[in-house]
Amino acid sequence: MAGWSANARRNGQSVGFVPTMGALHAGHAALVERALLDHGAVACSIFVNPLQFNDPTDLRNYPRTLEADVALLSGLGCSALFMPSETGIYANHQPRQYDLGGLDRFWEGPSRPGHFQGVVNVVERLFHYVRPDAAYFGEKDRQQLAIIRHVARSLRWPEHIVPCATVRDPDGLALSSRNARLSDAERAEATILHMALRMAGELAFRAPVQEVLDAMSGMLARSSIVAPDHIGIVDEDSLEPITEWGVRRRAVALIAAQVGPVRLIDNLTLEA
Ligand code: PAJ
Repeated sequence: MAGWSANARRNGQSVGFVPTMGALHAGHAALVERALLDHGAVACSIFVNPLQFNDPTDLRNYPRTLEADVALLSGLGCSALFMPSETGIYANHQPRQYDLGGLDRFWEGPSRPGHFQGVVNVVERLFHYVRPDAAYFGEKDRQQLAIIRHVARSLRWPEHIVPCATVRDPDGLALSSRNARLSDAERAEATILHMALRMAGELAFRAPVQEVLDAMSGMLARSSIVAPDHIGIVDEDSLEPITEWGVRRRAVALIAAQVGPVRLIDNLTLEA
């Protein structure tokens, strides 16, 4: 892959990169489309990274839809697909413990021990092989994005990290490869996550932070299927919970909830 990138650069093209675990949907497609706007050559990777799964059942059940993925990527005009094997990508590699700046100590971190270390390890390996100029990540995984930005900045990785807006179904549910595992009833109820985030968007900077959190919890409590795990209103970069708005003009509302067999996460940028 490094040879492919070098070749693209020799031809005067910069290289954009979209790392994924496959089971591609319109959210992934939006990242590829954005990368294609910015770069002459765009690579996508598909690798279901065992290092970032702490639940073997989740790893086993992770959807794999390679044929459809390849069709989607070639339809979009993606220039290269990198599909490393586990032994290939981790050859001569000792998993490292990165300094995540404490960004993994809350929200998704405690319920998924080692997850973000696994993500950063694989992203470093993918960057090592692909050598892109820029890499595209979804705001859907806000904590992952914050952590990758932190590591890229603190280790002076040359890759430019580009955040991309969350793509949603028409009823508001954020697209996720895991949504395929929801039953019809669970899928219908899952929209309540977005409803709670929108409510936060309406109340933010007008009602006290705690009242907004209570309104979100109240909304989620209406569902007997959706079991909230965490709800937070946080600083965009540090992900620290905030307790008052002060002079702040932006914040992020975060939700994680168990819905049937799947843990769903979503978030929304709140703007004054
Ligand atoms: P995966 O879940 O396949 O997601 C790949 C990229 O697509 C991530 O940057 C994610 O935030 C983005 N994405 C997912 N759903 C989205 C949506 N609805 N709208 C916009 N972007 C969306 O995230 C991973 O894979 C892995 O952790 C990875 C970074 C590839 C490392 O293994």
